[in-house]
Formats: sequence, C-alpha cells, structure tokens
Amino acid sequence: MVDGHPTVREAVARAATRLQQYDTPEAQRVAELLASHVVGLPRLELYANPGLSLNEAGEDVFQNGVERLVAGEPLQYVTAETEFRGHRIMCDRRALIPRPETEELVEAVLDDEHVWSKPSPEILDIGTGSGCIAISLALAYPTARVTAIDVSSDALVLAAANASRLGCADRIEFIVGDLQATDGPFDLMVSNPPYIPAAEVAQLDPHIREHEPRVALDGGTDGLRVIETIAASAPERLAPGAPIHLEIGDGQAARVMECLQRNGFGKLSSRNDLCGRERMVRGERAP
Ligand SMILES: C[S@@+](CC[C@H](N)C(=O)[O-])C[C@H]1O[C@@H](n2cnc3c(N)ncnc32)[C@H](O)[C@@H]1O
Repeated sequence: MVDGHPTVREAVARAATRLQQYDTPEAQRVAELLASHVVGLPRLELYANPGLSLNEAGEDVFQNGVERLVAGEPLQYVTAETEFRGHRIMCDRRALIPRPETEELVEAVLDDEHVWSKPSPEILDIGTGSGCIAISLALAYPTARVTAIDVSSDALVLAAANASRLGCADRIEFIVGDLQATDGPFDLMVSNPPYIPAAEVAQLDPHIREHEPRVALDGGTDGLRVIETIAASAPERLAPGAPIHLEIGDGQAARVMECLQRNGFGKLSSRNDLCGRERMVRGERAP
C-alpha cells in the first residue's frame, strides 16, 4: 500500500486471484494488461517501480474493469481498444474484436503486387466491422481509395471513428449494406466474413458468444452463407483480372474455392496462417 492505495503489484495479484476463481484464462496476464491500460504504461514496465500505486480514480477504473472481466467481458471491450498491425483500434460491442489471423489476411493483400502497382487502386472491404482491414490498407497505401461496407450501421460508426482517429477517414467511404450496395469496379476485394456454422456458435467460448456480435460470427448452416453471396455478387463489381481475398474457417478452403470457381473465379490459391491452418483463399475474376 502507498498512502492507503494498493501498489500496482498488489492490485494485479488480487485481481488475478479473483479472475482465476472465475476461470478466466491467463488471469495474471489479463490483470496486468488491464493495469497497464489504467496506469498508461507498457505491461513490461509495470513492475519497474515497485512503489507505483493506483490513485483513487485509477483504483475505481481498475476495479470496475475487474468486475467486467469477472462477468466474462473480453479484455479488449473493457479497455475499449486493441492493437492491429501496430495501429490502436477502438473496439466495443458494436464490432468483432480484430484477430491476429486477420493481420495475416492484410499481409496477404499487401503481397498482391499487381494491385499495388496501380497509381490509385480502388479497394473494397466487405464486412468492415471495426474498420481494421480497411484502415490498415489505407494507411499502408496512401494513394489507395477504400470502400468499407457492413450490414451493421453500429459497426460502421465505430469504423468511421477509428478512421478519423488514425487520420485516413478522407480516403475511406463507409456504406451500410451488403455487396449489392456498391457498384465498383474495384481493383481488389477483401473480406473477413462471418464463417462459423450456426450450430457451432453456441459452442464458442462464452467470452466470444455472449459479447461479440452474432452477425459477425454466424455464417449460416454450413458457415458459407455470406461467402456464397459475396462470390455470386463480386465478379460484376471487380475489374477484369482483379483479385478477391477471403479469410475462412479451418477446413473450409476446398468448399470456398469450389464456390469461387462456380462463380467464374480462376487462379485459386489458399494460404496458411502462422499456426499452419489453411485460413485464407484468393481468386481472380476472369480477365
Ligand atoms: C467476422 S466480422 C469481421 C470484422 C472485421 N472486418 C475484422 O476482420 O475484424 C464480419 C463482419 O461482417 C459483417 N457482415 C455480416 N454479413 C454481412 C453481409 N452480408 N454483407 C456485409 N457485411 C456483413 C458483420 O456485421 C461483421 O462486422
């Protein structure tokens, strides 16, 4: 204690014990990340000064955060932010929490040299959620123009706020709706659509199932409902020869490639994530 307030070490230890009781995974790390958010220091620097304590306001915010974590809320919603490709993305219940595998999808798009050799490529991000993909692409390519669509108007408000905060709102157009709401032609489409089979949504970890938007997760009976509508509507909105990149669920690659082929896409390929799972598919509209 320092002047009646717990040191960060004490507060973290107490929170971690509490979170373990409630079976929160990685309780110590989660408690440290919350403390790091509250005191505004990197996690690894939390213990550099053993006398560092939470002030009264900090104690309240920390305690409130612990209660929300105990209730099962994901840490990123409690701290209202996450990091995606080095960008600080605000997040809350309006949109899916950006995942590391989606950073790999962005990497695959950035590797698509044909597109980036164009002076001012037109990119479409389908199901933009927090805007993490659209914003990362706009920031990586300052001459690109990005259209970001989502059926969730709430998610789009969050995405637009993220784009403003990161200084690229002038190059991203946000449109509420599905692919039918756009015309094109686009030089590249990218999407991390909902792809979890409906029956599996009920089996997801409660942190996900009870807090993240169902519309961001549920891909219908076989998980491919949204992917099929994208594959059907994409060709007429893509420039000849232009690519589409999709994030997919483990075990879906063959069916997704077959679906793209049925809709006239060629040069199909898949890509593994860092864990070796086949999680990305690319195809090209006929030239
Ligand atoms: C898996 S989340 C991806 C969010 C974000 N792009 C990311 O990678 O973190 C899927 C998003 O697609 C949106 N969505 C669901 N069905 C859609 C559709 N038919 N057309 C456009 N967006 C859709 C959801 O609202 C959700 O924001």
